[in-house]
Order: sequence, then structure tokens, then C-alpha cells
Amino acid sequence: MSYSAKIGPSILSSDLACLGSECVRMMECGADYLHLDVMDGHFVPNITFGHPMVECLRKCVGPDPFFDMHMMVSRPEQWVQPMAAAGASQYTFHLEATTNAGNLIKEIRQNGMKVGLAIKPGTTVEVLAPWAGQIDMALVMTVEPGFGGQKFMEDMMPKVSWLRSQFPSLDIEVDGGVGPSTIHKCAEAGANMIVSGSAVVSSDDPRSVIAMLRTAVSEAIQKRSLDR
Ligand code: DX5
Ligand code: ZN
Repeated sequence: MSYSAKIGPSILSSDLACLGSECVRMMECGADYLHLDVMDGHFVPNITFGHPMVECLRKCVGPDPFFDMHMMVSRPEQWVQPMAAAGASQYTFHLEATTNAGNLIKEIRQNGMKVGLAIKPGTTVEVLAPWAGQIDMALVMTVEPGFGGQKFMEDMMPKVSWLRSQFPSLDIEVDGGVGPSTIHKCAEAGANMIVSGSAVVSSDDPRSVIAMLRTAVSEAIQKRSLDR
């Protein structure tokens, strides 16, 4: 099995006036990557930040941390080049936001970024499947995108299980309401990239929460490989 457990804090729930130091703090607490939520007020009913902020964050944290850009925007085509120039590592766009996913995937690669493909809770996993061979990561949303701190939707787990059964080495990410009380469901279903916002960022001990999430996923991966 070629995938491993990776924990990516979402800094949406942190003190936004201190984003740079919050990113540094998360990396120091053992984060494997940073999940950065871009919202445009159209695709989702909320606005966060764009590529100028990403450029500043890249300068602040240095070249190494992996930036997974969760693009909750209506026109994902528009931001590929600016995000690449700003220092994004992976461009995760929503399948619902484009009519030409194939072209977008190509453009993201041409700009030197990895490709993530996200689906909202109302989108079936079969719609994503035809693209699975061309992407680096599939993101199964476990809340309606737009806000941190929402309740985990356990009924999304069959999507994760199905993807894992069909694509044994694909990186599969879950995002929304994931923390110590919901991680086991995600890990058992086969998710290996774990976004966690409020559960990590608002914790008194983010290091322990990150370690706990990683252990749960690693154990599930190990169990799956023994069962095969
Ligand atoms: C929601 C965002 C998430 C969010 C996760 O639209 O995509 O990344 O910040 O936060 P929690 O873990 O608090 O649900
Ligand atoms: Zn997100």
C-alpha cells in the first residue's frame, strides 16, 4: 500500500489575525501538511482569503510545508496560475464548480501543483470515479462546505469505503467535523488524509490531538494490509 496517514490542520478556526504564526505552530505540533480553505462567497456562503494571503503564508513558513488549497470557489480555473505563483503545493477544486474537469486537471499539473478533487455531501462518488486515475487526492466532504465547527456527517463514510475499495493506493481526504470522536469512522472507511480544524486548533494540546489522529489512521492502514 503506497499511502500513509497524514494530518492537515485547517487553520480556518484559528485566530485569523495571526495566521502566519498559527501555521508555524501547527507544523511545530506535528502537522504533516496545512489545509488552507479558500472561499469566494459564491460557491459557499462565506469569504476567507485568496492568493495574496497564501504568498505571505509561504514566506512565513518557508518552502517545506505542503499547502493543500481547498478551493471553494465558483471559477476554479481562474486561480490556478496565481495560486501556483503564490506557493500552493496542491490545488483541490470542487467537481461541482467546473464543466471541464479534464482541462483543469491538466492546467494544475502544467503549473507544477498536485491535483485534488473534492465532492460536496450531495454529490455521488460515482461522479468522481472517472477522474480518479488522473488525480493525486480525492476529498470527500463530511460537512457542507462553508464553515468550520460543523457536525460530522457519518453517512458520507460509504463514499470513502467505496473509493478505497476501487482505488487502493489513492490518497483519500476527509474534511469537516473530524476529530478524536469521529476519526475512527474515517480511518475504518479508508481515509488517510485527515483535515481537522476546530478539534486541533482550539485544543489546549494540539500536538496530542494530531498524534492521536495519526495513530488511529496508521492502525487502520496496518489492519487493512494484514486483512488483504
Ligand atoms: C469547511 C472547511 C473545513 C473546515 C474544517 O468548509 O472546508 O476545512 O475548516 O473545520 P472543522 O474540522 O472544524 O469542521
Ligand atoms: Zn476544507
